[in-house]
Amino acid sequence: MEMRAAVGKQPGVPLLGNFLEFRRDRLGLQLRSVMTADITRLRMMWRTVWCIGSHELAQQVLVTDEDCFIKGPALSEVARPLLGNGLLTAEKDQHRRQRKLMAPAFTPKRIAGYGQIMAARAVVAAQALRPNSMIDISSAMMSCTLDIVGRTLFDVDLEGDARAIADALTDAMEYMVEAGMWLLPASLPLPRNRRLKTSVGRLDETVLRIIGDRRAALATGAGDRGDVLSILLTARDDDGGGLTDRQLRDEIMVLMLAGHETTANLLAWTWYLLATHPEIRSKLEAELDTVLAGRSPTFEDLPRLPYTAQILDETLRLYPPAYVIGRMAQRTVQLGGATVAPGDIVLISIRGMQRCPVYWDAPEEFRPERFADKKARTAPGYMPFGGGPRVCIGNHFALVEAQLILASWAQRFRFRLAQPAPVEPEPLVTLRPRGGVWVEVEPR
Ligand code: HEM
Repeated sequence: MEMRAAVGKQPGVPLLGNFLEFRRDRLGLQLRSVMTADITRLRMMWRTVWCIGSHELAQQVLVTDEDCFIKGPALSEVARPLLGNGLLTAEKDQHRRQRKLMAPAFTPKRIAGYGQIMAARAVVAAQALRPNSMIDISSAMMSCTLDIVGRTLFDVDLEGDARAIADALTDAMEYMVEAGMWLLPASLPLPRNRRLKTSVGRLDETVLRIIGDRRAALATGAGDRGDVLSILLTARDDDGGGLTDRQLRDEIMVLMLAGHETTANLLAWTWYLLATHPEIRSKLEAELDTVLAGRSPTFEDLPRLPYTAQILDETLRLYPPAYVIGRMAQRTVQLGGATVAPGDIVLISIRGMQRCPVYWDAPEEFRPERFADKKARTAPGYMPFGGGPRVCIGNHFALVEAQLILASWAQRFRFRLAQPAPVEPEPLVTLRPRGGVWVEVEPR
């Protein structure tokens, strides 16, 4: 491949700049930018947006110069009604404080504990599948990961609430994408904003019920249940302060959203790729049959299922659920050949970078073997979980969960694609398969 330019530009139209193209084909615009330059200048009406496709520049934004950036107005104005001041949207000192409070919930020991629950719930969900039926495996994965988040993080059964939570989250995410584009505050009395209010209200009811029940249980002397909620309820920072109900509500909302939708999308794309690559599916089945010999996988089995993990690493490369990371500059920063001004937006195109021939051979091909050497997970041009102080806190949680669900479902069933390929990505807040992934459930 030819060298990329240091700084690029994509043709726009007068006044609007690249705005219409961004609305119509966000993924295409990012991919074209990444293919041609390390950093590309785009214009969305009066705002300058820089699209980053270089690993070094992405590291500069996320790690070395991270103090020059904030998450910016798109996220903070628009996501605030849903996520409040939780970990995902908090900035600077407040973020550091919350991250420190939350970290003990994601230690390797805790994740091993969640692993037992994940393994059991993955099997329960698999057993509920009717052989030879047709299902949207994307929504099946959403239910399964929501169930797991509920049980591991909050020790509650969200099954009865699953539909309402899923619908409200979808409403809220569609809202966030649309409003984020126009940077309209949620306080304006538009119909869309009223709908958001109703959805958030329904989610709030669930979350406040969870908190109330647990405070009541704590008052009767029930101690640490090993879940995140126990940790958050008893967490104290250096000056002895804990979290208020409002802060708890925000953190739970963040974990419920960030903790189920992303992993479900990863798995939906994995089933799609396996259905369209039978030779890779056979290799996976061979690993599962040899190592597990018919019994269900446990957390302890995971190191002995390397190919299962490689399939997920490679799916994360091709279909990263968090396909772009956005920031806003607070000061002037030199990014390669570009001078980024205060107020400019930078978009790190994770998907573009992970499909760019600068970093990958035959980037469009699904080849799990690329990750046979674990070092590939830290290679340039691969960052499905972001980086720096705001790297995904649920990284290991997600990989353990996805590996357990993939192993226990693939050892029981083969899912045949029951719709024409290709399935198109739909870039909402996360990268979903548009219309779902319809498959036929064939027992093995
Ligand atoms: C395959 C699954 C997942 C992917 C691809 C993913 C990806 C990401 C990425 C790229 C970020 C950084 C965003 C930024 O810098 O702007 C992030 C942040 C975050 N993720 Fe994940 N995530 C996944 C699963 C999870 C899970 C399972 C949880 C919780 C159980 C979680 C909780 C969070 C939280 C709380 C943050 C904010 C961290 C902070 O700002 O300090 N994620 N995730």
